[in-house]
Amino acid sequence: MARYRNIVVLTGAGISAESGVATFRDAGGLWEQHRIEDVATPDAFQRDPDLVQGFYNQRRAQLFTVDPNPAHIALGKLEQLLDGTVTVVTQNVDNLHERGGSKNIIHMHGELSKVRCRHCSIVVEWLEDCTQETRCPNCSDAPALRPHIVWFGEMPFDMERIESLLYACDLFVSVGTSGNVYPAAGFVSAVRSTGVAHTIEINLEPSEGASYFAETRHGKAGDLVPALVDELLE
Ligand code: OAD
Repeated sequence: MARYRNIVVLTGAGISAESGVATFRDAGGLWEQHRIEDVATPDAFQRDPDLVQGFYNQRRAQLFTVDPNPAHIALGKLEQLLDGTVTVVTQNVDNLHERGGSKNIIHMHGELSKVRCRHCSIVVEWLEDCTQETRCPNCSDAPALRPHIVWFGEMPFDMERIESLLYACDLFVSVGTSGNVYPAAGFVSAVRSTGVAHTIEINLEPSEGASYFAETRHGKAGDLVPALVDELLE
């Protein structure tokens, strides 16, 4: 394998599936059990904040019951040992990349382990339940706190930074994402437009965007990501 110095890894729900976190669109996935418009839009929060807070409280509590799997751990090792830069751009809101050893992470869809105050805008670490009665630790307002999650209709975080990373990388790897949600689904085309970077998809099955990748590897992230990392570090 060529020597890569500037690697961007885009991850989606599939990388956390083997840790026991449900994906969104597979059979039995989260969007089969809940309607997006009930729990994951600004309108839903306006209409029924208790339902939305409850949905994210459940998912936040789940963070304590799951552990990083070999795919997360391999990416942590890659960042530590590669003679170059590795950035994980994740659509996931869990904290399994951090716990797998990655440090250079962009959570483009937000983080379950944080809440944000709608009045003073502070973002704080939050591992407990959050309700409409919970006071903001900074401005003391209530109701004021919301999950620090990007809902449908909201702008993902750090897009400018992500775009510059995509245009500068020499290897782009996508792991465990169905390619249904933009802007992440369009990253591979942005990378390919530079004409210099190699692109690899790792997914259980061909994603919606599989044909845009120069190379595809289909199977479990927990097997294929450690194997790729070994090749990259050889
Ligand atoms: P999806 O649920 O849409 O897709 C998960 C992908 O992972 C599927 O293509 C599966 O085939 C694959 N997969 C499942 N298990 C796997 C495994 N063990 N190894 C490798 N691949 C596996 O999840 P995302 O693409 O992450 O956004 O969804 C993107 C966004 O849509 C999410 O961030 C979320 C959701 O609505 C928001 O909530 C804003």
